[in-house]
Amino acid sequence: MSALSLSCRVCATEHPLEAVGSCSRCFGPLDPVYDWDHVRASLTRERLEERRRDIWRYAELLPVSAPDEPRLAPGFTPLVPAPRLADAVGVRELWLKLDTANPTHSFKDRVVAVAARKAQELGLTTLSCSSTGNLAGAVAARAAAEGMDAAVFVPADLEPEKLAAAAAYGPTIYAVDGHYDHCSRLSVELSFELEWGFVNVNLRSYYAEGSKTLAYELAEQLGWRAPDVVAIPIASGALFHKVGQGFSELRSLGLLDGPAPRQVGGQAEGCAPVATAFRERTTVTPVRPDSIARSLAIGNPADGDFAVATARETGGAIHAVAEDAVGENMALLARTTGVFGETATGVTLGALRAAAEAGEVGRDDRVVLLVTGDGLKTLAPVSFTYAPVHIAADADAFLDRLEAAAA
Ligand SMILES: Cc1ncc(COP(=O)(O)O)c(C=O)c1O
Ligand SMILES: [Zn+2]
Repeated sequence: MSALSLSCRVCATEHPLEAVGSCSRCFGPLDPVYDWDHVRASLTRERLEERRRDIWRYAELLPVSAPDEPRLAPGFTPLVPAPRLADAVGVRELWLKLDTANPTHSFKDRVVAVAARKAQELGLTTLSCSSTGNLAGAVAARAAAEGMDAAVFVPADLEPEKLAAAAAYGPTIYAVDGHYDHCSRLSVELSFELEWGFVNVNLRSYYAEGSKTLAYELAEQLGWRAPDVVAIPIASGALFHKVGQGFSELRSLGLLDGPAPRQVGGQAEGCAPVATAFRERTTVTPVRPDSIARSLAIGNPADGDFAVATARETGGAIHAVAEDAVGENMALLARTTGVFGETATGVTLGALRAAAEAGEVGRDDRVVLLVTGDGLKTLAPVSFTYAPVHIAADADAFLDRLEAAAA
């Protein structure tokens, strides 16, 4: 394993590779530090070609030891072209990264696989999290796959499809009377009392690194070329920030040439603290979420300021998308590509279109849009598309009807 320690992103204080959620000096987030000589020597393009097609192919860039026999390994999800949507948006090339192909149909399987591995290394037997929905399912499934216990904390009024999908794996679901930020604060308090692996609290440094694998895969799947633009949804901001970190690691390892991709972030208007901070050039101010995009409804985003910094450093942008545009964008994606993404994806496409309208993205650009979650878990916003034509089971009447319509 190439990880050596954890280092505070703010004050650089070093911490051991334990279940510690934040810097003991300044409460800043902790990132793993790697032995870069070791990584450089063992991670080459040629070696990668022979490896497993899942996140563990990038083991040197993850802060845990790869499992000997990975179970239900996430990653290496399809990257597919979307030419009709590229025309609609007004970009040269548009590719969809289908993280719906992961075991529980969202990118959260990546982050949970890494955190769960760390929990096992530390001898913890219960996996836990606070969740806006997808993470609960990913934690529950990973615990089931590894023979661990799972206890998840979610807002009580989440989409029923999401909760039912998580419940099937047998976790204890604590439905909290409040929104996500209440669940989050509760899990932080409990993490000081219980010997549990809270994937996004005391294991957050390991968890967040899992998102870097999206950057590695995009570079590799595009033939070791970075896209010009990546469109990414933002809740806590960890995914957005870590994708940026993933690309910059590849560039400093010499695996990728050229400029870093511009990162375009999306939030829904009803919970857009990071988009607001980007627009107003301030630090993130917490909000009370009220959004149809429940998976992105984090009012006090832990990595929000880092996401703003990543957008600025890469020459990207972060846009807030109108609530009533979320379902429309989910439907636009579905009918132009055959891909049904969830509300977060509707937000991401809305943000990409806003960036195109603002001239931040255009005809010269090769763009990747991350489809981080599955529309089957969030059906309500596209229910407006369901308008079936009621008919009798009578072929003659049906043909008459078609003829009349054509006339
Ligand atoms: C489908 C989906 N996409 C994106 C995100 C954003 O992730 P992050 O909290 O790392 O910003 C989430 C978070 O729950 C999610 O469920
Ligand atoms: Zn610190």
